[in-house]
Amino acid sequence: MGERAKFATKLGIIATTVGSAVGLGNIWRFPYEAGMNGGGAFLIIYILCVLVLGIPVMCAEFIIGRRSKTDTVDAYRKLAPGSRWHYIGYLGILASVLILGYYMVISGWTLEYLFRALTGDLTGKTAAEFKAEQTAFIQSDFRPLLWTYIFLFINYLILSRGVQKGIEKMSNILMPLLFVILIVFCVRSLMLPGSDKGLAFFLHPDFSKITPQVIIRAMGQAFFSLSLGMGILVTYSSYFNTKTHLIKTASTVAILDTTVAILAGVIIFPAVFSYGLDPVAGPDLVFVTLPNIFNQMPISMLWSGLFFLLLTVAALTSTVSLFEVAVAFLINYMHMNRKKATRVMLLVVALLSTICSLSIGSWSHVRLFGKTIFDACDYFSAIILLPVSGLLISIFVGWVLKRNISREELTNRNKLHEPLFSAIFFCIKYIAPIIIILIFLSGFNII
Ligand code: TRP
Repeated sequence: MGERAKFATKLGIIATTVGSAVGLGNIWRFPYEAGMNGGGAFLIIYILCVLVLGIPVMCAEFIIGRRSKTDTVDAYRKLAPGSRWHYIGYLGILASVLILGYYMVISGWTLEYLFRALTGDLTGKTAAEFKAEQTAFIQSDFRPLLWTYIFLFINYLILSRGVQKGIEKMSNILMPLLFVILIVFCVRSLMLPGSDKGLAFFLHPDFSKITPQVIIRAMGQAFFSLSLGMGILVTYSSYFNTKTHLIKTASTVAILDTTVAILAGVIIFPAVFSYGLDPVAGPDLVFVTLPNIFNQMPISMLWSGLFFLLLTVAALTSTVSLFEVAVAFLINYMHMNRKKATRVMLLVVALLSTICSLSIGSWSHVRLFGKTIFDACDYFSAIILLPVSGLLISIFVGWVLKRNISREELTNRNKLHEPLFSAIFFCIKYIAPIIIILIFLSGFNII
């Protein structure tokens, strides 16, 4: 086997990891979760989850990945030979495929809206028309699938070029672009009359809305947004070099990811209030409420085009990372070459996305646990699988792996005098497992 792929530069390491983290989860999911679940109170719980669960679990994944320098199944085989811990790796691959199934469909929608924005189709409509058109579009059979397949193909083009020339190069170009667009929008949104009401809604904590279910959602959102628990960060950190400062990288990624989520709220809510729309519009916020707002602004085509470009870019860097977990596994384990591994995954995901997309339209009568297949994939993977596998990962690093290995990785073999090491390790070993279990038990009404 050839030499293991590596990221070329420090910027590349941050850009790809942040690229994986920043996605639809930040811009599409976070604002509506916060909007429906207590605004600022949700934000506080979310930030706590990022600090005490997110950063430590991310460090744990980095330790596993950089130490073993292999895919997410083989990593556990190498670090704990003869044990069953590598099932965590399979769990991660399962979660990544399930997430890809519906994530691809939403990514397809963003392409459709980018197309509509650029062809001037998002102008001159009433709020009711926006809603009706969006519903008709996502429930139709053919058109969403077409865009999903186009998005899949773009993923293929990037993934088949490999780690440095494909994934890293894309992230180095697209991530700075994403930040520039975000800042432009922030300024625009805060200049709208009445934007302070929106900010107050988003940031004012309403603790009466906080229930155990809301806490479980905040935790799920944190895991989802930071791309944790699925082996992506194990896979990406296997491409890190020996000088990469793991704790610093984890903190940078967590801070940037949370900043983008908050900025998305700062962009969306002032605009919603300024135009007198409903802030609790849920998942429709981005595809119905926002086009409606842009429509009322001068040069609306520019704003809607730019916004859906932002969303497409965010989605693309995340789907590529989701794919890479399974692709790296197939290359290593099944000895496929990169092109073939990518093609195999493309087919599997195309099939699942087709089912997810149809489950909103013609197949909406098919129910799993009372949810459409689309919603079931989302709930089962993001709210259950990710925290469960995050729990197992922290137990593995905290209790199975020798403490010295974690110390060596987190301090780069004692080159960095890292007082933070003990604190992070304490969180990995005790805090993360206990809190994840408690949140689960209370979220499911067991305690
Ligand atoms: N973090 C991405 C987002 O916020 C989604 C994502 C990419 C993800 N890779 C992941 C979620 C791995 C969980 C696990 O949209």
